[in-house]
Amino acid sequence: LVALETAGSGREGWSSRSAFVLAAIGSAVGLGNLWRFPAEAGANGGGAFVLFYIFCVVLIGLPLLLSETLIGRHGQSSAPESARRLARESGASRHWSILASLGVLSAFLIVSFYCVVGGWVLHYVWIFTSDLFQTGLSGGAFQGRDPAQIEALWPNLAGNGGLTVALDALFLGITLFFVARGVSSGIEVMAVWLMPAFFVLLIAITVYGAFGGAFHESMAFLFSFEPHKLTGSVMLAALGQAFFSLSLGVAGMITYGGYVGRKVNLATTSVIIAAADTFVALVAGLCIFPIVFAAGLGVNAGPALMFQTLPHAFQSMPFGSLVGIFFFLMVGVAALTSSVALLEVPTSWLMEKTGLRRVPASCTIALGAMILGALSALSTNELAEFYPLNFIPLFEGQGVFDVLDGLTSKLFMPIAAIMTSVFVGWVSDRRLVNAETGLSPTLQGIWRFLVCWLCPLTLFGILAVGIFPNLF
Ligand code: PFF
Repeated sequence: LVALETAGSGREGWSSRSAFVLAAIGSAVGLGNLWRFPAEAGANGGGAFVLFYIFCVVLIGLPLLLSETLIGRHGQSSAPESARRLARESGASRHWSILASLGVLSAFLIVSFYCVVGGWVLHYVWIFTSDLFQTGLSGGAFQGRDPAQIEALWPNLAGNGGLTVALDALFLGITLFFVARGVSSGIEVMAVWLMPAFFVLLIAITVYGAFGGAFHESMAFLFSFEPHKLTGSVMLAALGQAFFSLSLGVAGMITYGGYVGRKVNLATTSVIIAAADTFVALVAGLCIFPIVFAAGLGVNAGPALMFQTLPHAFQSMPFGSLVGIFFFLMVGVAALTSSVALLEVPTSWLMEKTGLRRVPASCTIALGAMILGALSALSTNELAEFYPLNFIPLFEGQGVFDVLDGLTSKLFMPIAAIMTSVFVGWVSDRRLVNAETGLSPTLQGIWRFLVCWLCPLTLFGILAVGIFPNLF
């Protein structure tokens, strides 16, 4: 590992390039890859969605990822301050920092409900662990239970307010533990240990699934391209997925970029991060669909795929409860490295803004996220009928969880990303930007074209569909 310093600013930083790469991959790889990607691919017809998703990662996600990390590395500060610095040095209005402030707000909102899902995952680890103790190692999970009882696992959890809030608090508490310890001794240590563990689990479960018999069917489902399935809504779903998966539009990569040393080549690093994230999404598909197909279950269960459909599959599997434990542990690890990134974004902002030290700053943000998160945790039970933004058509009939998810992914994230591409592509000083990217002149030209034109225009498309879903 090459020791790096963050521009001699005395600010915290990653201890090496690999630490940054692992932490950034940890931020990108999360519930978005394991829970959202298979569900979206299943609901959107498979191959056509997957191919367009890859197209979006390369042509829109990657240029934006580089744009975000370069703002952070140039500024060596919290996300809003980094954006302000680049704006000031480019002779532009300091108000451009709003793109990052919006990201900080989104990260805070997302972490509040992301930890609720993290809590559900912990509960499933527990369910399979206790099942292992009850029914033993051999044979499938949940022996002697009928399908209705397995089906009921999910509503039993989602309908129990006390439990969902407690699990949310537990997951948030674990997240806070790592953030409070700091960049190099908390976040980085976690990423360096947990990301390799995650990859081992992912590969092990995928290889296991490949022997389960339905691997070819899954390959065909995920990779056979049928052009007629590529509709407008599939394309937009793929774009939104690419975006969420790469952690773009919430200032996460600006924040992590702020801890990167001067010698790191940001372009190469961005390619590694995007490639790893996409690889995990595809492997997650190849891990989950064989299990689903082998058990003869439906692919388009959407968000319930993981919590309601998959547990059935573990019943008919040799060593089912053990595989279940490993599966949900893997999901939990991926979720944790992402929730840590999400909590770090507002924490670093609060530290800089108020001069608070890391521990009080992270505890304050976590407390806020807990209060808001409790509302999300209760939105599947006690507050199921509470629709906070019912007067806005886009959020009609949606509980707190769905409102926060929709508000961030359909509005705030695309707005912040459009502003980022305009800021980096059109507003910022070319020389400053070019010096940060580490690209050759030809690649520089291509990257600029993508950031200046393709990114803002296509993102404008997602935004329009997000706001006026009935138009398309
Ligand atoms: N990229 C994460 C996922 O795929 O689950 C979600 C996420 C993490 C978004 C961190 C934003 C972020 F800053």
